[in-house]
Amino acid sequence: MISLIMSNSSFFKFLLFFLLTISASFVQIQGLCFGINYGQIANNLPSPSRVAILIKSMNVTRIKLYDADPNVLHAFSKSNVEFVIGLGNEDLQNMTDPSKAQTWIQNHVLPYLSQTKINCITIGNEVFNTNDTQLMLNLLPSMQNVYNALVNLGLDQEISVTTPHSFNILSNSYPPSLGSFRQDLMQYIQPLVEFISQINSSFFINAYPFFAYKDNPSEVNLNYVLFEPNQGLVDPNTNLHYDNMLYAQIDAVYAAIKLLGYFNIEVRISETGWPSKGDTNEFGATIQNAKLYNGNLLRRIEEKQGTPGKPLVPIDVYVFALFNEDLKPGPTSERNYGLYYPDGSPVYNIGLQGYLPQMVIPSKSNVLSFNFLVCIVTYLILLGSF
Ligand SMILES: *[C@@H]1O[C@H](CO)[C@@H](O)[C@H](O)[C@H]1NC(C)=O
Ligand SMILES: *[C@@H]1O[C@H](CO)[C@@H](O)[C@H](O)[C@H]1NC(C)=O
Ligand SMILES: *[C@@H]1O[C@H](CO)[C@@H](O)[C@H](O)[C@H]1NC(C)=O
Ligand SMILES: *[C@@H]1O[C@H](CO)[C@@H](O)[C@H](O)[C@H]1NC(C)=O
Repeated sequence: MISLIMSNSSFFKFLLFFLLTISASFVQIQGLCFGINYGQIANNLPSPSRVAILIKSMNVTRIKLYDADPNVLHAFSKSNVEFVIGLGNEDLQNMTDPSKAQTWIQNHVLPYLSQTKINCITIGNEVFNTNDTQLMLNLLPSMQNVYNALVNLGLDQEISVTTPHSFNILSNSYPPSLGSFRQDLMQYIQPLVEFISQINSSFFINAYPFFAYKDNPSEVNLNYVLFEPNQGLVDPNTNLHYDNMLYAQIDAVYAAIKLLGYFNIEVRISETGWPSKGDTNEFGATIQNAKLYNGNLLRRIEEKQGTPGKPLVPIDVYVFALFNEDLKPGPTSERNYGLYYPDGSPVYNIGLQGYLPQMVIPSKSNVLSFNFLVCIVTYLILLGSF
């Protein structure tokens, strides 16, 4: 019908404009500054190629994996997404052998690098939270071997090496200026921090103000942990004012590192988040609170805020997590940290929806015919312009 009221060429220009407008939601120029953890302990998640569409539509350009899933790395080839990939705790024993570390990099990293950006490898996860002293002893040698393998392959400037810690490696976290590492872990942490400093890497911490609230809901101010308006707390040693718990936790880690004599190591949040559902004794695990925590956090990340102690260093955060993961063990909250349900619908609206098309799940043939149509239209317009 439209062609009746337009010349052929203006119709096609209109159509092209229309198609480009639609496809603009898939082709982003520049991304949001937060990262997201893409965990896969579930039996109902969409395929990595569909997830790649979701991620692009969210404008997210940084993803953290817990492994080096080749399907994911492949699905994101030629995208502008940068990956943190991981070696699991179960891999550390092998990584204490330099030749196995080298082989691992050759088999799991090298083949993807020409198409997919990988800028960090995490070695193990929350190793000091496992009670497994052999694992703790294996951590630093594994990190050194993986790092040396990267050096041998000329990749050490492109890919950094670190390990995410649980927040309970601190013995004290308040006031932030008195943050310190647990004495019983010092024998492991001191040389680890020294190594991180030597290789110019950063310190990854998983920080969940939710745990502090859940454990003590009558004492901890919910607004303080949710980044909502509140009086905040003043650190008596520095006079710095904290209006939220996450920033206080980050500065406590900076203080603990400083106590060991290191001043230039960046602290980054490898995980933080809030569950939208929990067991009856998991106070605060609600959709409303999860929406406030993650929504307020994303706003602060977009504003490139630093903490009171490091105001010029924008907080660097990987939100946990992309999806609810139905096979995670533990309390109900563990399976409900996702921003999305496995079907791609959002668990709550945190403004990402502003630019989040409903999860489009095109079949391959739809994508092909869509691309085909764009090609034809472009061709016809070019033809028309001569
Ligand atoms: C460790 O290495 C051995 C032999 O190289 C391999 O068979 C085994 O699967 C590896 N272990 C893990 C957890 O990958
Ligand atoms: C480690 O040991 C402590 C004290 O024995 C215990 O409370 C905790 O649950 C253990 N953690 C794990 C992950 O096994
Ligand atoms: C770390 O950074 C310093 C200063 O930027 C540089 O001189 C040094 O070579 C770097 N070390 C490594 C291992 O990259
Ligand atoms: C993606 O991010 C860029 C830069 O921050 C912004 O201009 C653009 O509007 C965003 N697009 C979507 C669909 O969110």
